[in-house]
Amino acid sequence: MSATTEPVRRMTVDDIARMYADGQPIPMITAYDYPSAAILDEVGIPILLVGDSLGQVLLGYDSTVRVTMTEMLHHTKAVARGARRALIVGDMPFLSYANTDEAVENAGRFLQEGGAQAVKVEGGTRSARITEALVRSGVPVMGHIGWTPQAQHGMGGKVRVQGKTRDQARSLLADAYAVQEAGAFSIVLELVPAQLAAAITERLRIPTIGIGAGPGCSGQVQVFTDLIGLGDFRPRHARAYANVREVIAQAARSYAADVAAGTFPGEAETVRMDDAVLDEVLGRGEHDRGPAAVPSTGIPLDRDL
Ligand code: KIV
Repeated sequence: MSATTEPVRRMTVDDIARMYADGQPIPMITAYDYPSAAILDEVGIPILLVGDSLGQVLLGYDSTVRVTMTEMLHHTKAVARGARRALIVGDMPFLSYANTDEAVENAGRFLQEGGAQAVKVEGGTRSARITEALVRSGVPVMGHIGWTPQAQHGMGGKVRVQGKTRDQARSLLADAYAVQEAGAFSIVLELVPAQLAAAITERLRIPTIGIGAGPGCSGQVQVFTDLIGLGDFRPRHARAYANVREVIAQAARSYAADVAAGTFPGEAETVRMDDAVLDEVLGRGEHDRGPAAVPSTGIPLDRDL
């Protein structure tokens, strides 16, 4: 009897809305490549964000401002090849949505070339027109307010919790409403005081996904390299569930030691051939002896040496 295989179905923004309506917390993780996307997908993470954080945590840039559309598409394609169930959100990089025409064109590339099903756009009120245009064009949009790394040069340059003062908090609340009214299906709250994030979450009709925004959001997002303990720096709001940096270092040390000791490769990692064939190749077989030997073809054979 053959085992029944369940058909694989891609998560949609409607599924996310259903999770939200059911009060089910939404775990989102950033993903940047094929193998990790496949693992995250297998364990059932509903949303994978191909975040422009890849510029820093994967490519070694000093900020996300350096990340280009070409780089984002390259990684989105890899994630889309690895993840068959998760909703894939492509992060619109700096200046890729400076006006509505460019935004629609670049978001279209994320969906058509990259294989994403939605895009993320930083900014509240300032990006509402862009979000509206994208949603009108049929592109599901995730908003992103609070600390928005692409705008860091206009936000004092230093990573900082947003919304601590009365004016900042009011402006953040206005941003959240603007994103919702523009038609976004969800919104990331980054580095927002927990009480304010909870208050925003209570007032919105769309799920909030927090990062450094306390436990009162509808979901949480973590940067993959922080989650697995791979990066050389971990922000305070992140929790490492593994120490992959040490696992890799230990694996590399053990490998180098085995090579030095001559114990790698061992029998299990070695492929062998029929010795008789090799003898023939090298001219040291039975028929290479005596007058009937086939003349050599210019390759130095053992019998000619
Ligand atoms: O780029 C990214 O990874 C992000 C998350 C931190 C939300 O924008």
